[in-house]
Amino acid sequence: MDEKAKKLIAEAGKSIESVMNLPELEEIRVKYLGKKGEITQALRSLGQYSQEEKPVIGRFFNKAREAVTEMIESRRGEIVSVELENKLKSEDLDVTLPGRKPSVGARHPVNVVYEELERTFAHLGFEVVEGPDVELDYNNFEALNVPKNHPSRDIQDTFYITDDFVLRTHTTCVDIRILKCRKPPIRAIIPGKVYRSDASDPSHLPVFHQLDGLVVDERITFGDVKGVLARFAHEFFGPDTDVRFRPSYFPFTEPSAEMDVSCVICHGAGCRLCKHTGWLEILGAGLLHPMVLKEVGYDPEELSGLAFGMGIDRVTMLKYGIDDIRLLAENDLAFNRQFMHV
Ligand code: DAH
Repeated sequence: MDEKAKKLIAEAGKSIESVMNLPELEEIRVKYLGKKGEITQALRSLGQYSQEEKPVIGRFFNKAREAVTEMIESRRGEIVSVELENKLKSEDLDVTLPGRKPSVGARHPVNVVYEELERTFAHLGFEVVEGPDVELDYNNFEALNVPKNHPSRDIQDTFYITDDFVLRTHTTCVDIRILKCRKPPIRAIIPGKVYRSDASDPSHLPVFHQLDGLVVDERITFGDVKGVLARFAHEFFGPDTDVRFRPSYFPFTEPSAEMDVSCVICHGAGCRLCKHTGWLEILGAGLLHPMVLKEVGYDPEELSGLAFGMGIDRVTMLKYGIDDIRLLAENDLAFNRQFMHV
């Protein structure tokens, strides 16, 4: 019996030694010491031995149980410390490695230009007013004297939400909101996103940015249009900039004009940017049409106003020589970073 117990202890010892992880060690524990384990069973079946044999055999197996338990516990300790060591090794942190720089964003060139426009007009006494992107058809077209059959009202050009609501196609619609809720004198610029049902190409995006301007007071004349916009051009494009006004047509202004500035690249000599004309078209402008003033409840004999509107993306492109408007919609940080400090 002594031999049998010794053999059992030796055998258990061998398998305990060779085990490398806790689940396998547990299997061995169950094999010997579990409810149906070899040692437990042996101790349970002492009854079949004679009175003399019982204590001897019992002692052996009790000894075996103690020995195996001890071996298992000490192996468990070893495995735990090896596993801990491995874990620490795998999570090893080399504090001497160079750190990773947090990535810093960049202001978008359209924002950079918009802020400059805002500053320029602030010097001329203009406040900033904003309106909603989803606009009444009435404010976007009807009240601005855009007739029902005007091509810009076509669903080819305008995103209709319902028959009465559109995604605004220009920021001029906010003029109507301002005229309806403010008393003159009014001097406001209106920046914002506008929407047109256009496919994107180098000079079109379905969403772009405009800045409208509105001045309403007694005796506003075309002289004010020229004065305000020439001042703006000199401050924004530089004091040597020439401006010229060409007659044009907009349904909500009369008379209407377009303003050109001398080319920012060639200063009038002619180059690719200005298509060899020496001029760049910057904005549309005019005196508020009497129909528009009447529509919002003013007497055109007593009050007059001027309006102007420009594309912020277009001005950004001209200012920085960007030749594809789609670059402005990509939000590529490397691209945007180029304009942060200009
Ligand atoms: N709303 C016009 C457009 O989107 C631009 C414009 C022209 C605005 C003349 C004005 C203006 O306020 O007076 O093409």
